[in-house]
Amino acid sequence: MPLHVLEHPLAAHIITHLRDQTTKPATFRTLAYQISLLLAIESTADLPTEPKPIATPLEKMTGRVLAAQPIVVVPILRAGLGMVQPFTDIFPDVSVGYIGLERDHTTAIARSYYCKLPPLAGRQVFVVDPMLATGCSAVKALTVMKEHGATNATLVCIVSSPEGVAEVEQHHPGTVIHTAALDRTLNAKKYILPGLGDFGDRLYGT
Ligand code: URA
Repeated sequence: MPLHVLEHPLAAHIITHLRDQTTKPATFRTLAYQISLLLAIESTADLPTEPKPIATPLEKMTGRVLAAQPIVVVPILRAGLGMVQPFTDIFPDVSVGYIGLERDHTTAIARSYYCKLPPLAGRQVFVVDPMLATGCSAVKALTVMKEHGATNATLVCIVSSPEGVAEVEQHHPGTVIHTAALDRTLNAKKYILPGLGDFGDRLYGT
């Protein structure tokens, strides 16, 4: 299964402080930025490059630059917003789309209440959502990306549950998932254990 768990001492350090319930929102936001930056770098390791002849102050050489294949980052509102800035900081030609999802209380199915997307065909799409819990939102978001022409969508999460990963694999087999932590399970309220609590609440202090 194309699941990539970030293995890096700095990632472990950041995740531990994100999990710590005594971490305050201001620090939480900084840590969320830092772990998302590591994930942005890791999840884009396969982006195509092309040769570019240049001259250093000493001699000519051919370097490599990112190929003209703009990437698209799509946060799932609202918590996904906390993962966008690292992508826009490091990629010059990134476009940002938005998708808002809510759960229908009677059917328990995720429904899109807001969707604003740039053209997705032929572009590398990164759906970002910090907590891959039941996987319902991720599955719906990936479905919407495909409906809008995406053929290459990667899911980037900070903490994932085995249940969420399985749900994505069942509905969108072969989807590449990058996560900074793969946790144990979900509790009865569908929170990830050990997890870090409600990411959006901790990010925005609500
Ligand atoms: N969303 C969160 O913010 N936390 C969880 O544990 C699960 C879903």
